[in-house]
Parts: sequence; structure tokens; C-alpha cells
Amino acid sequence: MISKFVINSKNNSNMKFKPANKIQDLQYFGEFGGVNPSISDSSTYTFLSAKKMLDTFEGHAEGCYLYSRHASPSTLYLGEALAAMEGTETANVSGSGMGAITTTILHYCGAGDHIVSSRTIYGGTYAFLKNFAPRFNIDTSFVDITKLDLIEAAITENTKIIYCEAVSNPLLEVADIKRLAQIAKKYGIHLLVDNTFSPMSISPKELGADVVLHSLTKFINGTNDTMGGAVCGSQELIDSLRSVTNGSSMLLGPSLDSMRAASILKNMRTLHIRIKQHSKNALYLAEQFENLGLRTVYPGLVSHPSHELFKSMMNEEYGFGGMLTIDVGSLKKANELMELMQHENLGYLAVSLGFYKTLFSAPGTSTSSEIPEEEQKEMGLSDGLIRFSIGLDNDIKRTFRLMRRCMNKINILKINHELQETI
Ligand SMILES: Cc1ncc(COP(=O)(O)O)c(C=O)c1O
Repeated sequence: MISKFVINSKNNSNMKFKPANKIQDLQYFGEFGGVNPSISDSSTYTFLSAKKMLDTFEGHAEGCYLYSRHASPSTLYLGEALAAMEGTETANVSGSGMGAITTTILHYCGAGDHIVSSRTIYGGTYAFLKNFAPRFNIDTSFVDITKLDLIEAAITENTKIIYCEAVSNPLLEVADIKRLAQIAKKYGIHLLVDNTFSPMSISPKELGADVVLHSLTKFINGTNDTMGGAVCGSQELIDSLRSVTNGSSMLLGPSLDSMRAASILKNMRTLHIRIKQHSKNALYLAEQFENLGLRTVYPGLVSHPSHELFKSMMNEEYGFGGMLTIDVGSLKKANELMELMQHENLGYLAVSLGFYKTLFSAPGTSTSSEIPEEEQKEMGLSDGLIRFSIGLDNDIKRTFRLMRRCMNKINILKINHELQETI
């Protein structure tokens, strides 16, 4: 059995949802009294009687483990921490974000079903919906998620889910989760929200989403040493994902290893501190980049079309997240700038996000390259776009001055700002 006591943090102060308190209030007594739960180093589990084994396979033996593709004590601990953070009944973890996303979509949709999806989503999810799901006769309409009338108009009698990212990859469009949830409810369908870009800042379940998905590979783990994913939702959903007879997670098998589950759980304890620092640094850089005349997109900027919407949904103390984009006009300039910034040790030219160092990539030729060029253009994904995952730099002003020097060097600033300050 998992030994955990959850203190209801809603009793402590006002009724606002406090994701960090939810994690803080988890209490563990490991097998030998350790402050961290013991890691279950087993793929299979013994039963003291054959009857118990049968009961477990039939799902009637609470606290018994059968096989680690189903669940292990370590994956359950991590799942419970994620569920606490997102305010859902429970959660199932998986070996990657795509493992969580695809099995959840396949849980809700079968042959003949239809999905309404935001058109700006992570390239892998887009490719799954566009190229892979049709093999099972599952069709998707891709719609501008900021246009709620278009979303509603795209719903058909076969639609089973609305799919979106709370803050979209890479264009940083913001989904109006409350209104989308109302639409989903009206049609008796489910709203699935990928919250990978905005953990803690946005709590989709609190805003009405049915399911919250995560790539743990990013901010939640934060050390870029492992993959991981999660589905946070009702007990009923998670039980059916894990069903030994027809559960998509159990049968497709994107399981997370116990060692990695334990290490991600430990990193989650500093997530609130990291998110605040990522957000603080990203807001500073976004403001400075915008002042330099660069086309900058960051939900924390007043110029962002959904700035007010983000503000209305956010858990304020965590800020607007660590992701921002700039457009430097062409792929050639984008590549030049990224190579120079890497050379100057300002971050890494790499995909992914949530690391202590800044990561930058040009989504059009990397994480969104699955999206055909035509469609990239249509959705405003230009060649010169650079996506930044801003790091935890303690002296972000120094970082900015060095980045500005790189920008000056390759002539992407309208005014060639002379470097006045000493670095
Ligand atoms: C928003 C978002 N969701 C899901 C994924 C997929 O996660 P993973 O790479 O862990 O499979 C990514 C990966 O980049 C992502 O950015």
C-alpha cells in the first residue's frame, strides 16, 4: 500500500487552487522509514495465494501489484503527486508524453470517431492525429483554438473529444479552457488539455477540463535526463486505461520504469521554485527583446493577444511560463543566431524545454517539421521563428546583454545597439 497522507490545503487559506501546497502536503514513509519512498526494483510481484492473483487480475485487490506494465509502487507514487498538482482524482504515468497522449486519445476514440483539435499543437501530436489516427478511421478537424465559434462549428455527431494545449507549442496560443469546457459539456464530449508548457501556472482541471496531459520530459522533470508522460483524470478513466482486458495503456504498453518514476518524483518537489524562476527570466527577456524591436511572443507581454485571458486563468505566483518566441526574419538568420548563442555559452541549440540552461530551436525545421510547409505558413509559423525555453539563470540581465551582443553581431536589430554596459 502507498503510505501517504494528503492534507487538504484548501482548508488552509482562501479557496484558490494551490498546486505547490498539494505537492508539499504529500507525506511519505518509505519501506524502511526513509523520507523518500523505496523504489520498487521489480517487474513482477508475488502473490501469497492463487486466489489473490486472480482477484488482482480482475481488479479487485486494492494495494496488490501484478506486473510493472500495469503499475508499480513507484509509478503510483509519481501518479499521485501529479494528480495532486493538477487537482484530479488520480493519474497514470507513462514512458513519454506521446505515450500518454496517444493512449488517451485511443481510449476515447475508435473507428468512425472524430476529434476537434487545435491546429497549433506539438508536431508529434499533430502527426499522430493527421497521419496515424486515420489508419484507424479516426478523423481530426484542425481549428484555430482561439476562435471558439469555429471550434463549435467543427463538432459533428461523431466528435468524441476536443484536444488542445493550454499554451500551444510553438506559437504560444492560449486556450480559453473555461469556455472550451462549456462547449464540450454542451455536446457531451470530453476536453483534453496538454499542460506541458504551463505546469503550476495553469490548472486545466480547475477550469473545467476533463483530462490533463503532460510530457514529464520537460519542466516537470526539469533535468533533461529522462522521458516521461502523464494522464491526469478521474479514477474511472485511469482504471480503464490500465484494464488488463481492453486498456489502451496496459495493452500498448508505454510504461515508465520505476527508477525513472522515483527520480521524476524527487524533481517535482522543486518544480514551484523552478517555474517561478523560468517565468521571471522569460518575462524579463521578452520585455527586453520587444524593446529591441524584435517580434516577440510571450503570454506575459501586454502585446500578446491572449494576455488578459492567461491572466484570468493563471495561478498568479508562477508567472507566464518559461517559453517565448522571437522572429528574426529568416531561417538563415535564426540558425546564425542560435549557433552564435551556443558558441557564447548562452544555452544549447536543442529541442525540448524546461532545462536549467536556455534551449533554443527553430520549430519550422525541428519540433514542428511534421506540419507541412503550407500549413505552417497558414498558422503563422514563419521560417525565422526561434523558440526559447528560458533557463534558470541567476543573472538574467547579464544573459540579456550577451544575447543582445550576439544579435548585434549578426545584424538582426533595426538599431545597432552599441554595448554600453560592461559585462
Ligand atoms: C506540448 C508537448 N506535448 C507533448 C510532447 C511529447 O512529449 P514526449 O517528447 O515526452 O513524448 C511534447 C514534446 O516536445 C510537447 O512539447
